[in-house]
Amino acid sequence: MSRLGHFITFEGGEGAGKSTQVARLVERLRALGLEALATREPGGTPNAEALRKVLLEGLEEKLSPASEAMIFSAARVDHLDKLIRPALSRGAYVICDRFADSTRAYQGGALTQSFIDQLEQLAVGDNMPDLTFILDLPAEEGLARADARRGNGKADRFESEAIEFHRGLRTAFLTIAEKNPQRCVVIDARRSVDDIAQDIWSCVETRFIGEPR
Ligand code: TMP
Repeated sequence: MSRLGHFITFEGGEGAGKSTQVARLVERLRALGLEALATREPGGTPNAEALRKVLLEGLEEKLSPASEAMIFSAARVDHLDKLIRPALSRGAYVICDRFADSTRAYQGGALTQSFIDQLEQLAVGDNMPDLTFILDLPAEEGLARADARRGNGKADRFESEAIEFHRGLRTAFLTIAEKNPQRCVVIDARRSVDDIAQDIWSCVETRFIGEPR
């Protein structure tokens, strides 16, 4: 792939504030006259959005971790083919709310390292993000925020998992960051939206746009 653009992903547990920060970053990039596109996983294309519905709310019973990981990955392949790669090859910034690290964190705990490595290689190959922000906060805080945001709505497939699962996610994301220090930046997500957005912007500016102004 000829990648003229920049691929930036946001990761973290439930209620970490990813969507807000995706929107903030896109806004700042567009203010500079740059093409920036916000997208999400699972989703981003009509077929991947249909798979999202099935994965998060449409199943009669739980899938096995392997089959769940494969459906998330199938949605990812469609997203990469139809939206992410074309946008990157025309020079756009693609800002994605979750990507392959989420499969590693959410499904990987119940799979072997080799299964998840091979699946990622098959689905993503060399299309890994240039930069990943991991929004980190204690599982209890994130879940409380997600509950408040949802109001009376029903918790989805993952929000309804036990607290231990969510604590494990935090550790899994921090491990991914440790193993990929060039790509991943851990952000303390307990702070204000503005403070977090400023840290993210400084990092993007330094890496891709030039000296901070
Ligand atoms: P969210 O976009 O609101 O965070 O919802 C997506 C949910 O799907 C979230 O609970 C994380 C989960 N998920 C996985 O389990 N594996 C994946 O590969 C992805 C992209 C998301």
